[in-house]
Amino acid sequence: MARTRIVIDTDPGVDDAVAILLALASEELDVLALTSVAGNVDVDQTTRNARRLVDLAGRPDVPVARGAAGPLVHAARFEDGHVHGHDGLGDLTWADPTAPEAGEHAVDLIARRASEAPLTIVAIGPLTNLALLRARYPGIESAIERVVIMGGASFAGNVTAAAEFNVWFDPEAAASVLAGPWPITLLPLDLTHQATLTDVDLAYFAGLGTEVGTRVAGMLEPYAAYHERWHGNRDVIMHDATAVYEVLVPGAIATRGAHLAVETGGALTRGMTVIDRRRAHAERPTRVGEHLDREHFVALVRERLARYPLS
Ligand code: RIB
Ligand code: CA
Repeated sequence: MARTRIVIDTDPGVDDAVAILLALASEELDVLALTSVAGNVDVDQTTRNARRLVDLAGRPDVPVARGAAGPLVHAARFEDGHVHGHDGLGDLTWADPTAPEAGEHAVDLIARRASEAPLTIVAIGPLTNLALLRARYPGIESAIERVVIMGGASFAGNVTAAAEFNVWFDPEAAASVLAGPWPITLLPLDLTHQATLTDVDLAYFAGLGTEVGTRVAGMLEPYAAYHERWHGNRDVIMHDATAVYEVLVPGAIATRGAHLAVETGGALTRGMTVIDRRRAHAERPTRVGEHLDREHFVALVRERLARYPLS
């Protein structure tokens, strides 16, 4: 079976954690590296969290390379711990990570791995590293098989009424990436909101009696409490895992061609994604996710996370 070569660019983040654990348990994917970026928490912490997750997954073969410490142009505030916890992973107790930090910058690692063979980038945090990749390696887009991005929103945002967090955190980077000459699949909030885990699923993970199951249930608990406050129920939205799911199960997410753009000005709309689905854009290589089957998604996440500890 041909494995899909991917790099996961991430700002762990509890939903990043589920996405990363899903990918590392899936033999269909050759996870070449995790690259960290500032987003949910600062880049020191996202890098540390990525190393923690490599340790938790028992995958010391996967390097962690540090990326950008902040947005390209305007500083952005970190959320104050009410979504992902103050450490970004639900404030559980963790041993110091043993997985080493690669001595290579995230952008250079992505470019190097892309130069060897077709590479898919799974972007589940702010897009700063990918914008820097375009700037530092002109023409790199031709070596990238596809960019799968969790980000944006067709209608309502989450960090503001108009903007989704990953795009809002670095709109200039997102504008550059979405305008790039590479195949993109964008998975916006209206898609990711279909991918929820319930308390029944959290109880399933806790009941596995494994380190991964216990930690996934534990780190998602504060996230469930946040969802109850903001959405009125504890169903946790697995935003980032949909990006891994898109690569893992080709065709499982219904997509359509669209023109994608980002508002970088706008007092009220900075970070808003403008997703144009009109017929004229149907054949574009920039695609937007529209629908997934929640039962299929949840069954796969459960089955793959139950594989830990990996043999
Ligand atoms: O808006 C959801 C995105 O923002 C996810 O990537 C989540 O991890 C947060 O970073
Ligand atoms: Ca994320």
